[in-house]
Amino acid sequence: MIKVAPSLLASDFTNISGEIKKIEAAGADILHLDVMDGHFVPNLTFGVPIIAKIKKICSLPLDVHLMVTNPEDYIQPLTALGVEYISIHQETVLHLHRQISLIKSEGSKAGIALNPATPIETILPILPDLDFLLLMSVNPGFGGQRFLPLVYDKIRKIDQLAKQQQLKLEIEVDGGVNDKIASQLKAAGADILVAGSYIFKQTDYRLQIESLRN
Ligand code: DX5
Ligand code: ZN
Repeated sequence: MIKVAPSLLASDFTNISGEIKKIEAAGADILHLDVMDGHFVPNLTFGVPIIAKIKKICSLPLDVHLMVTNPEDYIQPLTALGVEYISIHQETVLHLHRQISLIKSEGSKAGIALNPATPIETILPILPDLDFLLLMSVNPGFGGQRFLPLVYDKIRKIDQLAKQQQLKLEIEVDGGVNDKIASQLKAAGADILVAGSYIFKQTDYRLQIESLRN
């Protein structure tokens, strides 16, 4: 079954613990956390100290999406917290294999995130080393943007390659996801759907999550 990962970015930041309790009760699979540094993306969110607090109160696996120019500096602080999923952007890292190996050796699941304009070919040599691949379906930096259909082709190609190579790779799609496109994303081969505004801008989170699964 497809996993749903609500993105905390769209939640009420004046009530983070209440939002997390609500999202757990609503049946979310994973909590997606967007770390933005104001350099790699033109927006600023939160970093390790807040994730440390969230880790203490959240029973869901945490999925930290590092939209920062220096993801290397965040890996060990995050693995030390026991963060389950960590993704670094291809566009920010010179030595991807080294950083992916580090994340895995520290016991977390390692992923690479790709901007809409970044070809999947750039990461194919290390596809077998990845636990997951995060395909952006909007330009990173903000919630509430319109889904870019160019991601379908990327999902299909990666899904096919992963099957051919018998990889245990999860494909995560992030940006503009809603119920109208969820089934097409699933059919293309997506395993994890990130959704921010689609879930948090409604009152019944369970209904929203279930509509993405079915
Ligand atoms: C965008 C973030 C996404 C964002 C998704 O830079 O990486 O995770 O929160 O939000 P929606 O679902 O509203 O596009
Ligand atoms: Zn994200």
